[in-house]
Amino acid sequence: MSREKILIIDFGSQYNQLIARKVRELNVFCEILPPDFSIESIDPKEVKGIIFSGGPASVYSKGAPQCDRRLFSLGIPILGICYGMQLISKMLGGDVAKSHRREYGRASLNVTNHKLLFKDVPKTSISWMSHGDKVRRMPKGFIRIAKSANTSIAAFADFNRNFFGVQFHPEVEHTQAGKTLIKNFVKLICRCRADWSMKSFITETVSDIRSTVGHDKVILGLSGGVDSSVAAILINKAIGHKLVCIFVDNGLLRKDEAVLVKEIFRKHFKLNLRCVDASEEFLTNLRGVTEPEKKRKIIGRTFIKVFDREAKSIGNVKYLAQGTLYPDLIESKSAFGGPSATIKTHHNVGGLPKKMKLKLIEPLKYLFKDEVRKVGRELKMPQEVLGRHPFPGPGLAVRILGDVTKERCDILREVDDRFINTLKRENLYDKIWQAFAVLLPIKSVGVMGDERTYENVAAIRAVTSVDGMTADWAWIPYDVLAKISNRIINEVKGVNRVAYDISSKPPSTIEWE
Ligand code: XMP
Repeated sequence: MSREKILIIDFGSQYNQLIARKVRELNVFCEILPPDFSIESIDPKEVKGIIFSGGPASVYSKGAPQCDRRLFSLGIPILGICYGMQLISKMLGGDVAKSHRREYGRASLNVTNHKLLFKDVPKTSISWMSHGDKVRRMPKGFIRIAKSANTSIAAFADFNRNFFGVQFHPEVEHTQAGKTLIKNFVKLICRCRADWSMKSFITETVSDIRSTVGHDKVILGLSGGVDSSVAAILINKAIGHKLVCIFVDNGLLRKDEAVLVKEIFRKHFKLNLRCVDASEEFLTNLRGVTEPEKKRKIIGRTFIKVFDREAKSIGNVKYLAQGTLYPDLIESKSAFGGPSATIKTHHNVGGLPKKMKLKLIEPLKYLFKDEVRKVGRELKMPQEVLGRHPFPGPGLAVRILGDVTKERCDILREVDDRFINTLKRENLYDKIWQAFAVLLPIKSVGVMGDERTYENVAAIRAVTSVDGMTADWAWIPYDVLAKISNRIINEVKGVNRVAYDISSKPPSTIEWE
């Protein structure tokens, strides 16, 4: 696919994805690459500009990440941010001063040259700093274009080669001139056409998939979640019934989920959809298992088995499609980014390809979640699918603490249904990132009418979050909490107590298991 793009070289900054977001908001495609990417793998005609991200290292420390020196000879504009600026300085013969104190937070930026990068930027503005070292002597050909109280060279430029460096972070909201600066780099300096949109993405992707797949068949595990659903509709647009979607009812789904998926995807979108009821197989395999990670492993393995069986019975399948998103890709690639420890093994269809020897098709792998939703809207997918809260692969099994049985799944489905429906009625569903109910492995005493009851306890959990990595419990108004608890206790047989989870992540996690 030939399209103009900006490359972002990832030196380990926590803000990398923010840089990418800002560039994409300007309708320009961008990719995040690790510092050691192969320069041969890029097409200099496509790459309009390169951004060196910030990073935690010091350019002089042992093992500090570097980039390929040849990047400076491609005739492509470069913008270095923080560590990126220091790296430009070091690699082109300037000097970086080591500092033992980090300058952190707001700083007043004073622009001394408004040409190109700082066009339309006020003389003074607030910028966000987060650095230890700073440039002491600029490389040959560079001039200072901004200063701050603590940093005499807060930004520099080589206008002949179109190399720029800023000591602050233009990608964060606190930097007042940040948006203008990135726009100037992308549009004025790199001269991007800025014609990348979800519409053009769909057109390009559809034509790509068509020419890749040819007459072969593709299978996709459709969960009904946003990512696999959008991937399915997109691929269906490209190759129609050569795409076979497999929806596995593992008995751990939410109320009416299987019906909804059939209704929307088979009837409305006319997908070639196979629905497999494997609930007994899953529940049998889970019998007596209480350990969360063991549950995940069993579910992952059973899923692979069921999927494999279906794929074989379809025959002639060459490709496996997945709804992988960009953040998953960056995390697994980045030398610095990914989470350091596996807290929970997340089982998607990730284990499938190696076993099945299928080629992968991942049409959403360069998109962020909200871009995927935009693609879905372009494809006229209903809000009911696009606005759905995330649902874990292992489903209700990790929300039933202890033993997972059909009876307990049934109770939890009803509890969850009353909770989610009340949130929708009260117009709170879309304001909450994820909400669900959990069935606890204990019973408590209650009184209903004149009778003593001894029944299950359900917990309800609702969180606000941006990406699920951190989360806060949602401040649901008391009157709504009252309605939720009334409905659950009155309408769901087998539950006589409801508790609201008021823990944030960290230190808790979103799911209970
Ligand atoms: P935690 O509980 O780790 O959840 O704070 C963060 C997000 O990930 C989802 N989650 C999973 N998703 N397989 C999945 O596909 C899993 O095993 C799994 N465990 C947690 C969780 O619902 C939340 O959105």
